[in-house]
Order: sequence, then structure tokens, then C-alpha cells
Amino acid sequence: MDRREFGEGCALGGVGALAAALSAAMGGKAWAAEARPRAYGRVLLVDELGDPIKASALQPQLNYLFHYPFEATPAFLLDLGRAALPTALRTRAQQDYQWPGGAGTRRSLVAFSAICAHKLVYPSKELSFIRFRKGEVVNPKTPSKGSDLIHCCADHSQYDPARGAQVLGGPAEQPLCAVLLEHDPKADTLVATGTLGGELFDDFFAKYEFKLSYEVGPKARQAVVGRSTVRELDRYCRNAVRC
Ligand code: FES
Repeated sequence: MDRREFGEGCALGGVGALAAALSAAMGGKAWAAEARPRAYGRVLLVDELGDPIKASALQPQLNYLFHYPFEATPAFLLDLGRAALPTALRTRAQQDYQWPGGAGTRRSLVAFSAICAHKLVYPSKELSFIRFRKGEVVNPKTPSKGSDLIHCCADHSQYDPARGAQVLGGPAEQPLCAVLLEHDPKADTLVATGTLGGELFDDFFAKYEFKLSYEVGPKARQAVVGRSTVRELDRYCRNAVRC
């Protein structure tokens, strides 16, 4: 565990508590030592008015975007409309981990870093090459590897959000990093608590340092604190490319 994980984990009640909760979700299965979830701040997902979003109000199979765990790192929030089951996955560094499946009463709510695991393409306000696509994408050059996938049109990586964003096609070498969600069934609210899988945030900040400095400003690398606003991708981004 590095210093960041340790410090933030303590502030949150410990990475161990998060791992235990996820382990419970997996029926008590133990985590591999090198594949623990990383606890960041507990962040309530809110709408554009600042009110907590209601999970049941999310439109199934629509792209929603929020920023987590840093101010400049986008993540997809999706209601898949069907249960997403736990999945065994591996990072490109050959670390195994168990994605715990969807959150919510139907286990259909999932969140993943929207930074493509190939060359780190991401949705900005101006342009997005990566998004969830309902159904099969009809493109003779890059046949769809299935239905309801996250496609990155930059080089045609395809990720299955119902299987922890496992790579089904294209050059990406690992799943999208998962964002862990907690659903409060009483209040029907959602809290992001950490990540699981192959993080690419250091590479992302190194690659886009200059771009992010004018897109987001000096807060780009600050951890999101307290709340993060959820928007429909098409409201956030002016040009969402569909390949
Ligand atoms: S950047 Fe996404 S497939 Fe290459």
C-alpha cells in the first residue's frame, strides 16, 4: 500500500474496511494482495443543481459523466438496465482482481474511469472518442464484439461494462479502471468510494499536463472532495464521436 492509499484509507476508516465490504459482496472471497481497491474520498454524486442524484432516476443505457477521483479525471456512470455480475479480471501488469459487479437494487449501476486504457483518450468538453453504445455498433471496418459496449473510436477498443469493462476487442491491454460505488437503498443515493483495477492517472496527468492546465486549471490534480456533479455526456461534451 502506498502512502496515499494509507493516508486516505485511514481518513475513510481504512482500506481494509472497503476491502472487507467488497469481499462481502463477493461472498467472502479474499482479495489478492496486489489487487486491492484504492480508497479515495467518499464523494456524493449530485445533479447539476447540487441535489443528490436518485439512482432510480437514471435513464438506463445513457452515458453519464462525473469526475473522480481527481478534478480532471472523468468517469462514466451507467445504469446498464440489467444486473452486472462479479467478474475476474487482470491488469496489464498481470495483477488479478475481482470486480464486484453492479451496485443498486438491481445491481445494474456501474462506473468506470473514462480514460481509455490504450492511449488515454478521454471525454473533454470539446470532444469525446469514447462512450457507451447501446446495442451493436454497425461498422464494417470494426465489427462490434457484442452489444451494449463502451467503444473508443480512436483505435476501436471495446469494453464490456457488464463485465467490469473487460476488453473484448482492440488494442487496449487492460479493462477500464473501475470506480467503486455505494448505493444507499433508503435515500437512493450514490457515493463513489474508490477505484479498483489498473489506474492510469499518473500517465494521464503526465500526457495531458498542458492541456489539462487550461481545460481544468490548477485544480486538475486535486482530489474531488465531498460532491461530484453528474451530467449526461451529450450535455457535457459538444462533439461526441460515434464510430
Ligand atoms: S485510445 Fe482508445 S483505443 Fe486507442
